[in-house]
Amino acid sequence: MTVEDLYPVPAELAKSAWADKANYEAMYRASVEDPAAFWGEHGKRVDWIKPYTQVKDVSYDKDDLHIRWYYDGTLNVSYNCIDRHLETKGDRTAIIWEGDDPSDDKTLTYRELHEEVCKFSNVLKAQGIKKGDRVTLYMPMVVEAAVAMLACARIGAVHSIVFGGFSPDALAGRIRDCESNCVITADEGLRGGKTIPLKENTDKALESCPDCTTCIVIRRTGVETGWVAGRDVWYHEEMAKVDADCPPEEMNAEDPLFILYTSGSTGQPKGVLHTTGGYIVYAAMTHRYVFDYHDGDIYWCTADVGWVTGHSYIVYGPLANGATTLMFEGVPNYPTVSRFWEVCDKHQVNIFYTAPTAIRALMRDGDEPVRKTSRSSLRLLGSVGEPINPEAWRWYHEVVGDSRCPIVDTWWQTETGGILITPLPGATDLKPGSATRPFFGIDPIMVDNDGKVLEGACEGVLCIKDSWPGQMRTVYGDHERFYQTYFATFPGRYFTGDGARRDEDGYYWITGRVDDVINVSGHRMGTAEVESALVAHDKVSEAAVVGYPHDIKGQGIYAYVTLTAGVESTEELRTELAKWVRQEIGPIATPDLIQWAPGLPKTRSGKIMRRILRKVAENEYGSLGDTSTLADPAVVDELIENRMNR
Ligand code: PRX
Repeated sequence: MTVEDLYPVPAELAKSAWADKANYEAMYRASVEDPAAFWGEHGKRVDWIKPYTQVKDVSYDKDDLHIRWYYDGTLNVSYNCIDRHLETKGDRTAIIWEGDDPSDDKTLTYRELHEEVCKFSNVLKAQGIKKGDRVTLYMPMVVEAAVAMLACARIGAVHSIVFGGFSPDALAGRIRDCESNCVITADEGLRGGKTIPLKENTDKALESCPDCTTCIVIRRTGVETGWVAGRDVWYHEEMAKVDADCPPEEMNAEDPLFILYTSGSTGQPKGVLHTTGGYIVYAAMTHRYVFDYHDGDIYWCTADVGWVTGHSYIVYGPLANGATTLMFEGVPNYPTVSRFWEVCDKHQVNIFYTAPTAIRALMRDGDEPVRKTSRSSLRLLGSVGEPINPEAWRWYHEVVGDSRCPIVDTWWQTETGGILITPLPGATDLKPGSATRPFFGIDPIMVDNDGKVLEGACEGVLCIKDSWPGQMRTVYGDHERFYQTYFATFPGRYFTGDGARRDEDGYYWITGRVDDVINVSGHRMGTAEVESALVAHDKVSEAAVVGYPHDIKGQGIYAYVTLTAGVESTEELRTELAKWVRQEIGPIATPDLIQWAPGLPKTRSGKIMRRILRKVAENEYGSLGDTSTLADPAVVDELIENRMNR
């Protein structure tokens, strides 16, 4: 490590930040030495109806797996995100909404947000939605998405957001899995000037969801859509019928707040369940410290509310802190590649949080589209979703941040609820490409494949030793799968699924997934899901999917396909299969490369050797390793011969 690779904390920032080096060290030590005392204190960041007397009760044992925080306390998340700010910040902007079209924007104060949320809570109640019911949101990035989330939280309903890019089938599967009785959607979504047929997709999905009997539709573009009488209602019509008086429901700290489906290495997506008290404490505290949020700052996270980043760092964390949060409907390159920076100037954004894939894509267009904007309001930059390569980090720092703004590279997962490994801007010297150090209460441990704990500088699998309040509580409806996925591999610890390196300064460098999960433009995808979509096509007999390095997306999707006997391998079929996967799962799952594979490399017991497929996809076939255990080693030569990534 050369000296130039260290970006020290700016001295001014160390003075004004919530934590400087000394604070971080002292608080971190306290947090891991006595977690119950530490979190008992920080639980007071939110308002409780009935204060907790118990802080932590956790067991990772197979027969007794349970995670409870603040479990005798009661509170309401919507109250914490809105009502408690009304007295002092009622007229402050809670949400700045920037539409897909640059001329389309609006703002909502905390008081206006309160009124909308109370009214929509009453709409939900009028539709028969009760505490504990699961409500699915399939929505564009409009203010109503945040309103719907907070209204669910207000009445104790559990929301499950399905990203608007998912297909009708994917939506239906998620609605059925959590037995949701209500879906909230819009006529259409609007992104980058293109429309997304959300209502039409919902109609298709609901054909196979007989128990989902209510569909609330937001009018976004005004297009004509299908209508099922008795099931479908317009958001604006129902809002006009209700009043704005809706006291928040008293929830136990461990009552569910939301379910969010995410991909794993096997089978169907898992419904990650987060609960109320611990989640909101952790989201609020991480938002405050990681982004060094101070009153009055304008904060923008470019994620979609369909992902966990949107949950914790567009809606819950910022609003719990009384922040001004910006919601952006559009995309980075519409109408031009300067859009992000123009929005920063227009709304005087101070803190900007985005994904490496966006940075890499914008970097390709050079410095000029960035330089021509001012960005003088920016103070801090953030990165999330995948490893940020040092080259992109430096460009983000020098060009976007004018070498003035620290970058917080935040590592976390849907399962973790909030950020676990990250710099704190006033406390952590930065190294491009490293997520740096653990947040308070997080005790990372590195293990080798046999579960042996590694000390000092090392490379291995990343586990977390103890629980933290924002941790997921179960896989919805499948507690056994929760155990098997996260606690069976290295008993007694939370297994993250990520590989990492720890350097001599104790900094963490996330190297990527060690399981069959791939990360495409920061979107998490199980290779098994893409494979099962492919084999569902009648011309496909077998498929194996792996990730390969992709300049912009981080990883691309590489599919090896064995066709049914007698089917001809044509270019048209390649296009048809890509389109098929799009339809089955959604655009984010579209294979980038499809290779025809008359045979797949299998062991004698029939197991596909993915290691070989990964190497060929990476165009690294010179280092295939031992292929002697293959049933038919000749398959490999054929695969290399016809490789797609040259
Ligand atoms: O592999 C890690 C990668 O994204 C995975 C989690 O994906 P998801 O649940 O969709 O949540 C994404 C947003 C929190 C992780 O297992 N990942 C996320 N952030 C980083 C990262 N990899 C490296 N550096 C990061 N900052």
